[in-house]
Amino acid sequence: MPMSEFASQPDEYKVARILISEKDLKEGVQKLGEELAERYRGQRPILVTLLKGGFIFLADLSRAMRIPHEVDFMLVRSYEKDKSSGTVQIIQDLKQNIEGRHVVLVEDIVDTGLTLSYIREHLAIRNPASLIVCSLLDKKIARKIDTPIEFVGFEIPDEFVVGYGLDYDQLYRNLPYLAVIDPSVA
Ligand code: IMP
Repeated sequence: MPMSEFASQPDEYKVARILISEKDLKEGVQKLGEELAERYRGQRPILVTLLKGGFIFLADLSRAMRIPHEVDFMLVRSYEKDKSSGTVQIIQDLKQNIEGRHVVLVEDIVDTGLTLSYIREHLAIRNPASLIVCSLLDKKIARKIDTPIEFVGFEIPDEFVVGYGLDYDQLYRNLPYLAVIDPSVA
């Protein structure tokens, strides 16, 4: 990995290693955008993203998807204290009606799968014409609940990752690559 990728970042960040480079992320997102455009040509889909983690992926995916589409956002908080309950708090819901619309749920990462299965159900009961999931990252090995993901950018190992929208304690989201932080931090 070129050292210049580290050099552009704040001194305070403690990146141990780059897992997916900026170039590889860009290529992966471009490919997903093209595949989605192919699938939804002529259908004006809505890309629904979960904040905050999905904001950078959505911005790049939307630009890579060269067909007319809309975007909307939900602000959710995944179980923080009790990992096993799978409770997801919806702090801000969608602004628009998705009944009869083609919806793509855009996720940054699927880890246990609890957040995704909850939100998928939450959207499905509103009768969209179709509903699929596009996740940049898939930590398949950490899955606790089986939930379909139709489009995946990268499968990654069971490690805590930051960058490209993903945070540790609200920081590291602005790294242009996906990284593992120094174990002394997390
Ligand atoms: P879940 O375990 O699949 O429900 O994932 C819940 C949420 O935890 C994800 O949407 C992310 O916001 C967050 N998350 C899971 N794994 C990581 C990680 O490795 N880095 C940063 N956030 C993560």
